[in-house]
Amino acid sequence: MDNIRSLPIEAFDKESLVNRNPHKDFDSVQSQRPDYPLNHTSTYTKSPHPGWKIGDGANSNHWKNEEFISIDPAEEGRPEVLNYKLMISTTVPRPVALVSTITADGKTRNLAPFSYFQCVIADPPLYSLAFAGEHPNDTLRNILDTGELCISMTSDWIIEAANFTSINTPPHISEWNLAGLTPAASAVVKPPFVAESPYSAECKLHSHQEISSKRTGRRTATLVLVEIVRFHIWRQALAEDMATADLSKLRPVFRAGGTTYGTVQSAFEIPRPPPFRNLVQSDAVNTLRNNS
Ligand SMILES: Cc1cc2nc3c(=O)[nH]c(=O)nc-3n(C[C@H](O)[C@H](O)[C@H](O)COP(=O)(O)O)c2cc1C
Repeated sequence: MDNIRSLPIEAFDKESLVNRNPHKDFDSVQSQRPDYPLNHTSTYTKSPHPGWKIGDGANSNHWKNEEFISIDPAEEGRPEVLNYKLMISTTVPRPVALVSTITADGKTRNLAPFSYFQCVIADPPLYSLAFAGEHPNDTLRNILDTGELCISMTSDWIIEAANFTSINTPPHISEWNLAGLTPAASAVVKPPFVAESPYSAECKLHSHQEISSKRTGRRTATLVLVEIVRFHIWRQALAEDMATADLSKLRPVFRAGGTTYGTVQSAFEIPRPPPFRNLVQSDAVNTLRNNS
């Protein structure tokens, strides 16, 4: 257990600058809402408009009544936090990576959630993560110091614990105990992965790039590419092809704007378009050609 009594317990509280929670009394808002559908599965429906044909465009006309507001992100007097809030509430859903790292001295385990997170490419198998702030947070410092991390996916049964790991503990205090999550031993890297998560990836640092503010010239973020060196996935969540995961077993939670999370309770499939050469002589393509 970390020595909480003898070391400082104050850490910089970036969150207080964001004013993220839109509710004065969140508990009372929450109490008015229906219970979470704990037994939901990801039901497959038809796609929104299965009768879509070449050239049909949008499957609804409601967009024609909407009016745009145009915003210059660099507008005089517009604080960056408004661009942040607009980006994270429009660029959704974002997966949430629970990132596990260890300090360079090997003494403290760190765990925190990050939603500036995506797949980049499969050869080599890369994920991207972006860490905000002029000064590295504990996760970034550990990745740069040790070159190692684990990424675990956030399923709905660990979302409260995952959210809590974003607490601003100082570097010597581990979020694992506070969140009540279980470290599972990794095969290749030192940091453990989250035993409760159905999918985790052991990763090594591939490269990183610092990003600076055009206004102040100061560092605002660090973009990190990490390479997967080992996958861990529940047998029951993986198809026989050893490649395809089952949404209804993963029960992933995504991040939206503010304090909002969401789930995938409904999914549909749309095959990729056929090769264009198969369509070149079709009536639909000929009509479009003649009209253009
Ligand atoms: C769902 C969620 C997503 C987050 N995504 C990011 C992110 O992509 N980048 C970032 O710098 N901070 C992000 N944060 C904030 C960090 O988790 C938070 O600053 C945390 O304290 C960092 O922990 P550390 O200092 O132990 O690394 C996110 C927080 C939450 C709850």
